[in-house]
Amino acid sequence: MTKIVMVCLGNICRSPLAEGILQSKVNNTIFVDSAGTADYHVGNLPDKRSIAVAKKHGIDITNQRCKHFTSNHFEAFDFIYVMDKSNYENVIKLARSENDKLKVKLILNETHPNQNLEVPDPYYGRDNGFENVYQMLDEACTVIAEKLKTVSK
Ligand code: 4NP
Repeated sequence: MTKIVMVCLGNICRSPLAEGILQSKVNNTIFVDSAGTADYHVGNLPDKRSIAVAKKHGIDITNQRCKHFTSNHFEAFDFIYVMDKSNYENVIKLARSENDKLKVKLILNETHPNQNLEVPDPYYGRDNGFENVYQMLDEACTVIAEKLKTVSK
């Protein structure tokens, strides 16, 4: 089974959305999870604004609980998608090998190859920041889901 983990800072705004969106686009041969590089919110539900924007698009993310990203994730997952450059640095610091580092990708490079664009943190912004994040992640997850069809065949 191919295993993918979506990573952001808090694991309450961006990566729970990425998890829910990608899971909705793939079949059950793909395991999708998410985690945060910070542990402030461990055990919590996603942010209510993420829950609301997902629900608006027909996706339920209320089964998710916040988890902390650790070096064990490199063992357990095939691909690690991060939202921004700060997440990238935090995850790379925990890598145990060159092979671990190769698993880590900025998620928007799926839709904008080599541009190293970032999914902005919507936590302190207005509610429409969540819709903007949703749209970016939806496009990126469409590309990832297409690629996975070839990998998992
Ligand atoms: P996320 O957003 O990384 O997309 O989950 C954040 C959530 C919480 C905090 C920062 C970012 N925080 O500082 O508590």
